Amino acid sequence: MKVALITGASAGLGKEFLKALPEACPDIEEYWLVSRNREKLLAAARLVQKQCRIFPLDLTKDESYGKLSRYFAEFQPEIALLINNSGCGFLGNVGEGELEKQIQMVDLNLKGLTAVTHLAIPYMGEGSRIINISSIASFCPNARMTVYSASKSYVTAFTLGIGEELKARGITATAVCPGPMDTDFIVAGGIKGHSKTFELLPYCDPVKVAKGALAAAKRGQSVYTPTLFYKFYRLAAKLAPAKLMMKASKT
Ligand SMILES: NC(=O)c1ccc[n+]([C@@H]2O[C@H](COP(=O)([O-])OP(=O)(O)OC[C@H]3O[C@@H](n4cnc5c(N)ncnc54)[C@H](OP(=O)(O)O)[C@@H]3O)[C@@H](O)[C@H]2O)c1
Repeated sequence: MKVALITGASAGLGKEFLKALPEACPDIEEYWLVSRNREKLLAAARLVQKQCRIFPLDLTKDESYGKLSRYFAEFQPEIALLINNSGCGFLGNVGEGELEKQIQMVDLNLKGLTAVTHLAIPYMGEGSRIINISSIASFCPNARMTVYSASKSYVTAFTLGIGEELKARGITATAVCPGPMDTDFIVAGGIKGHSKTFELLPYCDPVKVAKGALAAAKRGQSVYTPTLFYKFYRLAAKLAPAKLMMKASKT
């Protein structure tokens, strides 16, 4: 049974991945959907005409990794596609506001993504794909979202690393680096109305990001940055002095 496992499938970009999958990967027979909210997962599952299993799990919690591991052992899925999309980002300086929010970014964006990937890889085979949702925030440190941008730098570096490790097994890994998207993320992160940079930047369309990312993963591309504007930004972050980039990228 060929399975696609999508974290954060209940909203935003994850939901767009789910909707794009039947056309992009018709050979995948079953979708496994993970996020915290059962009702939202059930509603997302109704959007597609495929067999879905829902797993209401909080990926910041260690006990969720044990549960996922037991599901894998019980159902023995052939994971053809893993989309690590669950993520959060909060605006605010380190040392100010709630510690809980800074830790939540580390626990979800780094720990959760690492744990799910580690548990899924033994169930993947030749031709399987991993898509990890990173961000343009991974290109250089973004003051006022320091932990978020550092967490996404990890996601991109982690993706490149596992891509190399998995080459011999014919499994690819793609880091997807979109710019801002108009999803719950912007409101939940306290960004809306509180960041001039976010107000000025062009927004990416999550429908196009999902489709583009699936096509990039099929090509075996290691990093996918949607839109010309952000491709240029990625290049600038490589070439321009770090201090200048950090000044320009302050959220
Ligand atoms: N929106 C942007 O501007 C933007 C830009 C670049 C990159 N990204 C990245 O894109 C990805 C998707 O974000 P989005 O914009 O689609 O945000 P979103 O609409 O807020 O969706 C986030 C998804 O993650 C799930 N999630 C949140 N906390 C979780 C937890 N503890 N355990 C399991 N699942 C959890 C949410 O479901 P529940 O709440 O039900 O758990 C939801 O399905 C993230 O990795 C984000 O960092 C976003």
